[in-house]
Amino acid sequence: MSIAHGIKQLGVLGAGQMGTGIAFVSALRAKVPVLLHDASQDQLTKSLTFIDKLLSKDISKGRLTSSEASEAKDRIQIVDSLHALRDVDMVIEAVSENLELKRRVFRGFREVLKEEAILATNTSSISITKIAASVIPEGKSAASEEGQKAAGRVVGLHFFNPVPVMKLVELISAVQTSKDILDRSRAFAEACGKEVATSQDVPGFVSNALLMPFINEAIMCLEKGVATRDDIDKTFRLGMAHPMGPLQLADFIGLDTCLSIQQTLYTGTSDSKYRPSVLLERMVDAQWLGRKSGRGFYEYNDN
Ligand SMILES: NC(=O)c1ccc[n+]([C@@H]2O[C@H](COP(=O)([O-])OP(=O)(O)OC[C@H]3O[C@@H](n4cnc5c(N)ncnc54)[C@H](O)[C@@H]3O)[C@@H](O)[C@H]2O)c1
Repeated sequence: MSIAHGIKQLGVLGAGQMGTGIAFVSALRAKVPVLLHDASQDQLTKSLTFIDKLLSKDISKGRLTSSEASEAKDRIQIVDSLHALRDVDMVIEAVSENLELKRRVFRGFREVLKEEAILATNTSSISITKIAASVIPEGKSAASEEGQKAAGRVVGLHFFNPVPVMKLVELISAVQTSKDILDRSRAFAEACGKEVATSQDVPGFVSNALLMPFINEAIMCLEKGVATRDDIDKTFRLGMAHPMGPLQLADFIGLDTCLSIQQTLYTGTSDSKYRPSVLLERMVDAQWLGRKSGRGFYEYNDN
């Protein structure tokens, strides 16, 4: 029997590449009104422009009528503060991949959102259990009824990039997540047109525990001069039928995000095999973050 997700209004925090895509599929596929917030006004403007571009492309390809597109667009509302999310039934957090930032954001959710709202994170690698522990009310123990109820509504809902295209959502239960929250989160991902795969709450979950070491090794190959950028990517495109090579994929993910994930794998396992490539660290130091900043392993002039 299918379970109703019960989401009448969704909040999305972070309007970068992932938050924008999540707002888009939620409004278009799940047909849920979305309140979208980002700390950067500039990013919100870019996000709306990108949503317009996605909708126009769908119309021109005959996948949407113009009235379906404008209904979807009308369901997305930009809001200028976290407080505007106070009545949402679910929030999906898609801010940068940083544990302290996410803890701060989730403490903000605890203060502002209603008690029964689902608190989902789109993190690529950070422990959902750690994030869940951050919403336990001050002065209450994790074992208290309030502590268990608060932490029990946190869940990992890991969409893939680009969200409108990628079919998968990885569903991750924290140690504390309640079954009802897990079931409703799955139902919401399905309403967005996604297939769901579950993973335990281990560093990187299934997806990035496997993908990111591969990307990191590819960057180490480049660093050591084993092969050129183009030959590394060509090897995987033409030899393994990957749609793009690992260096181009790293650019698309964002090199800051790749580095954060690899650091989480490294510190979360204490295993030296996960040490991030020095070249990756230097590129992030230089703010060469890949496609989103116009330069990574490749150059992009569509920013
Ligand atoms: N890029 C990918 O391929 C990918 C895939 C799956 C999951 N993720 C995860 O999704 C999350 C976002 O990644 P992204 O690629 O969209 O990053 P991004 O850099 O494109 O966007 C992050 C956004 O968060 C905003 N932000 C930062 N602090 C904020 C705050 N306190 N309040 C509101 N907004 C804030 C930034 O302004 C920025 O717009 C990360 O946790 C990442 O690991 C990324």
